[in-house]
Amino acid sequence: MINENNIVDLFPTPLYVATDVLTKEENQELIDHIISIQDKQVGRGKELWHSGIGSPKNSFGLDIKDKQFDLILKRAHYHVEQYTKTIKADVRMDYMNKEWWWNLYEGHNYQEYHNHVPHLFSGVYYAKVPPGSSDIKFRHPAWSLYIPHQNQTAYNSDACNFKLYERVMIIFPSSLLHCVACGQNTEPRISFSFNYG
Ligand SMILES: [Fe+2]
Repeated sequence: MINENNIVDLFPTPLYVATDVLTKEENQELIDHIISIQDKQVGRGKELWHSGIGSPKNSFGLDIKDKQFDLILKRAHYHVEQYTKTIKADVRMDYMNKEWWWNLYEGHNYQEYHNHVPHLFSGVYYAKVPPGSSDIKFRHPAWSLYIPHQNQTAYNSDACNFKLYERVMIIFPSSLLHCVACGQNTEPRISFSFNYG
C-alpha cells in the first residue's frame, strides 16, 4: 500500500492494454473494409462533436450490420469482460448497452477532450497507425490538477500521451477525458471505438 516514498496511490486509473488483438491478416481485412466504406457510411461525428468538420471520418451513430466487423466486436466483448473481471466490476455483459464506430483520421483531423459518459467502459482498437499519427492523450482524472514541474512524472502531470501501436486494444473508464491532436500522417490512422454500459 505505502510505497518507499511514503506515497499511497488512492485512486489508480485502470487502463487495460491488449496487444495483437487481431492477426496481421485479420487486421488488414478490417482496414480494407473501413477504407472501402469510408465515404459510403457517413456517421454523425461531424455534427455532434466539437471538432466539427475537423473530425475524423466516422460511423458514429450508424447501426452497421456488416459482418466484417463481427470479429473485432467479438474481441472487444472478450476484452471488456476480462477488464471488468480484473477490476471486479459487478456488471452483466449481456445487459449492458453497447455501441461502436470506426474512425479514419487524416493528418488535419482531430478530436477535442471528451469522455464517453454515461457509459461505464470504453475502448479503442488501433488498426492502422501510420508514421506521423497522433497518440491518444488522457487527462488526469483530477483534471484541474496543476503542479509546476520540469520533469514529468505520474504524480505531477495533468495529462499523458499513450503511445499507440497497430493491433493494440485499450479499455478505460468512460469518464476518463481523452483527445486526439492533429497528426502529420499522410496515410489514414484508423481506429475502432466502443462503449459498454
Ligand atoms: Fe473518445
